[in-house]
Formats: sequence, structure tokens, C-alpha cells
Amino acid sequence: MAGSVVLKLILTLVLCTVQVLCAKKPAEVLRHSVTRYGYPVELHKVTTQDGYILSLVRIPGKSGKAPVLILHGLLSSSVDWTVQGPDKSISFIASDEGNDVWLGNVRGNTFSKEHKTLSSKESEFWHFSFHEIGLYDLPAMVDYIRSNTSSDTIHYVGHSQGGTVFLVMASMRPDYNRKFASVHLMAPAAYIYHATSPAVDFASRIDELEMFAKLTRSYEIGGRGPGSSMDLVYAGHKTGLVPTSLVLTNIWYLVGVHDSINRTVLGEILANTPAGCSVYQLLHYGQNYLAKSFQMYDYGPVRNIQRYGSKIPPEYPLQKVTAPIMLYYSAGDNFVPAEDVEELADQLPNVVHKHMIGLRKWNHIDYLFDGSAHRLYRMIVASLRNQSADGNSRK
Ligand SMILES: *[C@@H]1O[C@H](CO)[C@@H](O)[C@H](O)[C@H]1NC(C)=O
Ligand SMILES: *[C@@H]1O[C@H](CO)[C@@H](O)[C@H](O)[C@H]1NC(C)=O
Ligand SMILES: *[C@@H]1O[C@H](CO)[C@@H](O)[C@H](O)[C@H]1NC(C)=O
Repeated sequence: MAGSVVLKLILTLVLCTVQVLCAKKPAEVLRHSVTRYGYPVELHKVTTQDGYILSLVRIPGKSGKAPVLILHGLLSSSVDWTVQGPDKSISFIASDEGNDVWLGNVRGNTFSKEHKTLSSKESEFWHFSFHEIGLYDLPAMVDYIRSNTSSDTIHYVGHSQGGTVFLVMASMRPDYNRKFASVHLMAPAAYIYHATSPAVDFASRIDELEMFAKLTRSYEIGGRGPGSSMDLVYAGHKTGLVPTSLVLTNIWYLVGVHDSINRTVLGEILANTPAGCSVYQLLHYGQNYLAKSFQMYDYGPVRNIQRYGSKIPPEYPLQKVTAPIMLYYSAGDNFVPAEDVEELADQLPNVVHKHMIGLRKWNHIDYLFDGSAHRLYRMIVASLRNQSADGNSRK
């Protein structure tokens, strides 16, 4: 008994030391995620209307082409778009084709935890869901890129929540639609009521989750840094104490079994993913799952009436999303199932293309980590070439 306690203490000490030694500044991590493969990089900071300071990573390309902004999903970061290296990651594939590539990081992830007046240690900082990301973060990034590159329009590629926030922005601030030459949404999380992942059951236990967050005053989920549980898993995996099979079993429990992740790359993924989010993002998805709707945050009847003028939160007005949209989805996705994306397509007025992934077991994270995802990326990048700057495809 005592021996095993001592052993555990020693292991924890060793792991913590590994973590501290390996801890790198966020800006260094971002820079390294691109320069390690020999590509040029620029880091940019963008401040939102409500004071959040976001990190944008640029892999500069030829001028004269519309820039492309690529945005990650929940708990992810820009690093996931580089982690498979050249020839395999969308960032480098797009860059090789001469595109001016911009990778976003939304508020609350490892790389966007600064604010003009708040510290991420204050609970105030975490009072946002994907709604605020769509309303403030995405417009700030879009305007910054357009101004910095003097481009009238940009291309957009988003995965999962990267799709959600596009739809929030384009429906709530419709003047943004004309700023996009083309929009590519991979498994956009709008309607999710056919989701079967155990993670959705968790997020839909709304009252318990909210109570727990308030009691413990911890509003950040899956955050990183020395001492965080995910950094322990990463260090444990790196030193061989946590076997790869155990990590994969846990991942597949959530997203469905699909043995498609390169084992070398897996170790790298764990270094920065998950990258943290606010509990309110999970709660908002949980609400939409239960309500079978794509709607604004539910604050309860009293505050809903003050805010929205109705007891039930309004749905996002998808008929206002007029930018040209391409949808990519899969039958094997248990977070954003094919039938929910089909329903979304029916609601959107300007879907120019729908692409169902051919692989039956292709799951929600294969868009990032599948060893053959480069085929999908090449298809998306090829279609950027065909979009002229005024948003019409040159046919
Ligand atoms: C773009 O941003 C960089 C970094 O802040 C700055 O040095 C450069 O002058 C900007 N270019 C334009 C055209 O705004
Ligand atoms: C897995 O990734 C490593 C490192 O990027 C690479 O050298 C190797 O060729 C990859 N393996 C396969 C089967 O693609
Ligand atoms: C792009 O245009 C070329 C020439 O018009 C065409 O052959 C190709 O299929 C198009 N590619 C995509 C992805 O739309």
C-alpha cells in the first residue's frame, strides 16, 4: 500500500518535471508548428469588440489571390491544421498551391487567452459560448485579414464549431456574407439532434454541468498547462507510462472506432489537443441537442424574455446566410450526423455543393487527423482555385 503511494508520488513528480521542462510559450508553439516544416510564418494579434485578444497564424503566399481563413472546432486550435506535416495538412497543401493561409484561434483556447481587461483566471472571462465567437471573434478575424491583405473577399474553411460560428456570424451579421468568395464547412455543428456520441449525453446533462462549474468556479474545460490532467496524459504517453492503445480506446469511445491516425502523429496531437474551451460552449451545444434546434443560448424563461422578448430562445435565421457554401459530411460521424447536415442544407439558401465522404467509418475527427484526409484537403484547395474574387465560380 504505502509503496504504491510512494511510487505514484514519484511518477507524478517525474511527469510534472517533464511537463515543466517541456512547457513552451504559446507563441513559440504556434511559430514552431509552421517553421518546423520549413514554411514562413507570421503571428498576428486581433482584438475583438468585447476585448478578447486572438492569435492568428499566417503562412504568407502569393499576392493577388484571395486569402483563406481556416478555423478549428471545439477544443481544437490552429496547430491541428499543421500536425500532419507537409503533403498531409491542409495548411501546407493550401500554401503549396500559392494561397495566403491564415489559421484562426478562438477565445479561450491555449493561444487566445488574453483580454484587454480580464484575466483568464477570472470567471468573467469564460462567459461566452459559440454565439460570441460567431458574433465577435470571426468578424474581427475576417476584417483584420481583409484590411491587412487589402483583399475585398476571403475564402473560409471551418470544421465543426468552425462551421457553427460561421453560421452564427452570417445569420446575425448578414453584411458579412459578401466578404466571402467561398465557404467550405466540414461537419458544421448546427443541427445535432441525431448525435449518438457519449459526449453528447454528457453535454446534455446541463443542470449538473452548470452546477458543477458554479460550485467549483471552474468554467474552463480541457485547458492546458503544467499540472492540467491533459498535460499529465501527454507526458505519460511520451514517457511510455500511458500506452497508445489506452489513449486510442478513449478517443474511439467518443468518436467511433476508425483506426486511421498515424501513431507518430498521435503523440504530437496530444501535445496541444484538447486546447480548452468554456463550459458554456458545451452547455449551448447540449441545449441545441435537447431542443432539436439551432438556436441562441437559453438563459431560462425570465432572462430570455429580457434578452429576446420570448421565453424560448430564437433560432438562428439561416435564410440570411447568402454566402456560397460547400458542405462536407459523413455517414460515420456520431457528433454531426449526415441527416443533420442534410437538414441544414435544406435550410440554407445558397448551398453550391454537398459532398458526402465515401468512407463509411469516417468520423468527426478524421477531418483533422485521418492519414488520408489530404485527399479531402486537395479537393477543397482545388475548388479555391476555381473561385474568383467576386464570389462566382469561373465555369
Ligand atoms: C499587416 O500586419 C503586420 C503585422 O502587424 C504589419 O506589420 C503590416 O504593416 C500590416 N499590413 C497592412 C497592409 O496593414
Ligand atoms: C506517420 O508519420 C510519420 C511522421 O510524420 C511519417 O514519417 C510516416 O511516414 C507516417 N506513416 C504513415 C504510414 O503514413
Ligand atoms: C476547376 O475548373 C477546372 C477547369 O474549368 C475543372 O476541370 C475542374 O473540375 C474544376 N475543379 C473543381 C474542384 O471544381
